[in-house]
Amino acid sequence: MTASAPHIVVVGSVNLDMTVRVRALPRPGETVTNGELHCFPGGKGANQALAARRLGAKVSLIACVGDDTNAEAALHLLKADGVDLTQVTVDSGTPTGVAMITVDDEAENQIVVAPGANRRLTPQRVAIPDAVAMICQLEVPLDTLLEAASQFSGFLCINLAPVRDVPAELIARADLIVVNEIEAAHYGETLHRAAGMVALTYGRRGASLLQGAVTLAKRAAHTVNAVDTTGAGDTFTAALVLALVEGQAPEEALAFACTAAALSAERAGAQPSMPRRADVLAILEP
Ligand code: RIB
Repeated sequence: MTASAPHIVVVGSVNLDMTVRVRALPRPGETVTNGELHCFPGGKGANQALAARRLGAKVSLIACVGDDTNAEAALHLLKADGVDLTQVTVDSGTPTGVAMITVDDEAENQIVVAPGANRRLTPQRVAIPDAVAMICQLEVPLDTLLEAASQFSGFLCINLAPVRDVPAELIARADLIVVNEIEAAHYGETLHRAAGMVALTYGRRGASLLQGAVTLAKRAAHTVNAVDTTGAGDTFTAALVLALVEGQAPEEALAFACTAAALSAERAGAQPSMPRRADVLAILEP
């Protein structure tokens, strides 16, 4: 990280991901055995914070964890990479968020979250520091996100995941909205009312960046041998925000984000697999 690294603040969730690898995802009512359990740090907020940090930003995370051993496990990679955690509060008597994740041989996943302490990130716990950009997702209370947005006048990105009913003022305030195909289908017309840019991700088919009816950029996905796509959307979001606030043009920024996201799918776990800036540039500028 250089002295001029952009400061990005992330307001969001911290989870411990309990990931089971299986040959095929279970259908409703089906039991699938012979899985392999792994625990990884996760949560969309924490993932986006780590991705932004590894790609070159100075990062502060505003979040809430429980006073249990899962908290330490969930935060250790953020600590190791130097994300500022001074505004991660501990809520005693509440468990740290947990995500139960199943990943199959095709790298597809199913995720169920027990938010725990993420629900305790109240508006009173939020004091936004000076930063060039703020990134939020929807795994913490919406009134907290409204409070965070009201305290911040810089570049605001909202990753509308997981799907929830979002106050219109948040959509209107966002400089960038990030959604995948499923989320885009849920929000529908609402996205057309966004004043800022909208990034749409299509998994293995890449992504596009729009402003109103204008397509600013389109990018096919960088081809990798995908093992686990958990956190790929989080890597994409963080990378796109960083590239845009660095002043990269839309085409260039989207290429940076798509490449970072693809690389993050090459290994298991949301956070262990997140690429560093040099890994992305080695592909974009060989
Ligand atoms: O976006 C992936 C993340 O969603 C996982 O790490 C899991 O914790 C859930 O929040």
